[in-house]
Amino acid sequence: MTPEEILAEVSKEVSVCTRCPLYHSRKHAVPGEGSAHAEIMFIGEGPGFHENEQGRPFVGPAGKYLEELLAGIGLKRSDVFITNVVKCRPPGNRDPEPGEIETCSVYLDRQIQAINPKVIVTLGRFSMARYLPNAKISTVHGRATHVNGRLVVAMYHPAAALHQPALKPTIAEDFARLPELIARAVPTQDDQDKPPTENKPPKQLSLF
Ligand code: URA
Repeated sequence: MTPEEILAEVSKEVSVCTRCPLYHSRKHAVPGEGSAHAEIMFIGEGPGFHENEQGRPFVGPAGKYLEELLAGIGLKRSDVFITNVVKCRPPGNRDPEPGEIETCSVYLDRQIQAINPKVIVTLGRFSMARYLPNAKISTVHGRATHVNGRLVVAMYHPAAALHQPALKPTIAEDFARLPELIARAVPTQDDQDKPPTENKPPKQLSLF
């Protein structure tokens, strides 16, 4: 299957998913969207009000700000892939529960494997915890870390910067580093479990 086919299959499954209780209150599931060949993937927390209405990730105020941050580094939404750790809105925008994140990870895992991005940017603490379980965002934000052969950059959630405008220069600086990180990153080891014909060259770590 091509990455596009895998992503389409995941989206279809997510749209009718009943694996966790979040399906009861959703209007639309939000699988994620963007390029199946994106070099960079953004993983947020979960759909909010606007995302639940539209079935698309980051389309509310935080999404508008994310688009501005992307534009600042010359990228459009369609150049990247944007998704969340949970694909359905937690009622009242409560935090996603560990069991919901775990249950939904089957979809995120497949999306990551299909896209095989050079860089994963986590937006907020729930996606950060997937890779850096004990990290503090105030310490690690903007820093590139190799996790299981994958380059991960933890960032403040755009909504945090909307609530605390003092964070805006920091998040903009963190974004400004992404083009260089992408340019210096090499394909990840994740592709080793793909069929040999799809394998990319073995990973070489560059200096960060
Ligand atoms: N916040 C998120 O974490 N994800 C969205 O899709 C929207 C807002």
